[in-house]
Amino acid sequence: MIAIIGAGRVGVAAAIYISMMELDDIVLIDIIKGRPQGEALDLAHALSILGKSVSVTGSNDYKDISGADIVLITAGFPRGPGMTREELVAKNAEVVVDIARKVVEYAPNSVNIITTNPLDAMVYLLYKATGFPRERIIGFSGVLDSGRMKYYISRKLSISPASIEAIVIGQHGEKMLPLPRLSTVMGKPLTEILSENDVEEITKETIQAGARIIELRGYSSSYGPGAGLAIMSEAVKKDQNKVFLASACLNGEYGYKDVCVNVPVVLGKGGIKKIIELPLNEKEKQLLDESVDAIRKNIAQIPPKYLG
Ligand code: 2OP
Repeated sequence: MIAIIGAGRVGVAAAIYISMMELDDIVLIDIIKGRPQGEALDLAHALSILGKSVSVTGSNDYKDISGADIVLITAGFPRGPGMTREELVAKNAEVVVDIARKVVEYAPNSVNIITTNPLDAMVYLLYKATGFPRERIIGFSGVLDSGRMKYYISRKLSISPASIEAIVIGQHGEKMLPLPRLSTVMGKPLTEILSENDVEEITKETIQAGARIIELRGYSSSYGPGAGLAIMSEAVKKDQNKVFLASACLNGEYGYKDVCVNVPVVLGKGGIKKIIELPLNEKEKQLLDESVDAIRKNIAQIPPKYLG
């Protein structure tokens, strides 16, 4: 069973994609009375119409996540217009710690994927608050950031995103680090296929993509995160050993310790099976250092009582 914490737009989008894929039964949890039940009922009707054979139920009681092998944490306050992800730290730390306690109690063997912002700091907090091995704590975002980069490359080249490998590492925030030199089409680096201007435009669009959605429709992304959560859940559930960009808690990889940051990871049964170290050049490593510094600043904003 896959438990989705938070029946807001991201949680529901994830539930839709996961149920369409018939990956597993889903329990949607939210603190708002009626909301997860109502969303689940509507989705269950859709599944009946489409002839899908998985169940979706909603609950306000964490007991109902008992036995979940995957927990997707989408709860928390979203970014509003003009708000940075960083401003969310204190508000969302309380939410994440509360959820962590419940997950430890009811789904102690689960693999956890979290989308709550500011992403990398919340991954770190979840890691500390659950005490789970780092393999079972995964931050969602690299899939979104690299998926967006693929989209912008695809538009420039008129080549399907399916044939493009885009790599974005670092903070899920203003200091995110798209890597055009390591992003390729059939082995050719982006920097050799496109002009400097085009590469710069793609990089900017990728970094600003989340804010652009908020600016346009007044609230933050949901379909992108939902789709990413679905394919990551599939990799864990089916033990696919696929490579994703995801926020992982590092213990010496890339020269960093005690911080969680987006890097390529292999996902399969049990969560992160391997962290892949990219061959970064000096400039890229320096930018990653700055990105990691930004994450450490977010972590330092977490009220110490939650990390204790
Ligand atoms: C995004 O990038 C809000 O962080 C979310 O769309």
